[in-house]
Amino acid sequence: MPRTAQPGAPEYLTFSDISVDLAVRIPHLPAPDEKIAVVPAGEYAGGMAANAACAFAALGGRAGVVSAVGDDDHGSFSLADLAARGVDTRWVCKVDEPTFWTLALLGQDGDKTLLEFPMPAPALKYREFEFAALEGVRFIHVVADEGAPALGVLAEARRRGITTALDLETLGLEVPELNELLALTDVLFVNTAAARAFGSEPGLALEALHALGPNTILLTQGAAGCILRESSGLLLQISAHAVTALDTTGAGDCFAGAFAFGRVRGWPDPESAQLANLMAALSTTALGSRGHLATLEELGRAARADGLAVAARLP
Ligand SMILES: Nc1ncnc2c1ncn2[C@@H]1O[C@H](COP(=O)(O)OP(=O)(O)O)[C@@H](O)[C@H]1O
Ligand SMILES: [Mg+2]
Repeated sequence: MPRTAQPGAPEYLTFSDISVDLAVRIPHLPAPDEKIAVVPAGEYAGGMAANAACAFAALGGRAGVVSAVGDDDHGSFSLADLAARGVDTRWVCKVDEPTFWTLALLGQDGDKTLLEFPMPAPALKYREFEFAALEGVRFIHVVADEGAPALGVLAEARRRGITTALDLETLGLEVPELNELLALTDVLFVNTAAARAFGSEPGLALEALHALGPNTILLTQGAAGCILRESSGLLLQISAHAVTALDTTGAGDCFAGAFAFGRVRGWPDPESAQLANLMAALSTTALGSRGHLATLEELGRAARADGLAVAARLP
């Protein structure tokens, strides 16, 4: 049943890409000169900013996305999907370039090779975004690959007492302004591959990253779950919720949106991390980066089955 954006200012704003992800099944990776027949698996609305906002909205929060799409079918498809999920798209600008899209080659054992086509330049959406839109916002989420254009909004959010979050994956490591971005970050989401650049083992990487700015860090470890570095310095390892993963695209974005939801509702970080870990695991059980965004009720059942403290906050 399509929903319209929830009334009122968003509590959560995400800044980065909107994409359409095409998936095809392949028997094996093609060798040079080889021709192989592939079967389309589907076309899915995706993009890091969009996925995180959709996770937050699926939990009942008010989310908005600041991004760009082209004036094409992929753009209309993306905007319609966001609107149907109740995400505010009024800060998505239309650009004179194709909407960002990716081609995922799905192997036989759930492995995946991703080809990314060019993305509209990040700067434009920041130029069009007016800081007045931050009124009422509690939490903003920025992806590190956005680079320099994101510094202004992080600094302004800080000035306004809004929690700032950064998502760091390996592409973000190439950003020259990474240290400046980290210095403006309260909550860092980092995956295992990117964390390796900061330390040979998770504890060392988390302390090195903390020294650069963020007080709260979530190191996501795929099928191994995650580690929360609390602002007190305590480390909490959370094992993954056991699922049969079909497609892990967008799991990290879902994790970020769910953690933000708990934070905005004033939950202790360990419980927000439990919610994120659970919702992200469930998100991998369907194809597409938001093929399965669990409701609070489903999360409540799973949290009770796993004996998690966060169950007490869930219906
Ligand atoms: N196979 C899986 N089984 C259970 N949970 C998973 C699985 N893959 C991912 N997750 C959940 O999603 C989170 C983010 O996944 P991860 O692969 O670390 O991020 P990214 O997709 O950004 O690289 C993990 O911390 C975990 O909570
Ligand atoms: Mg990620």
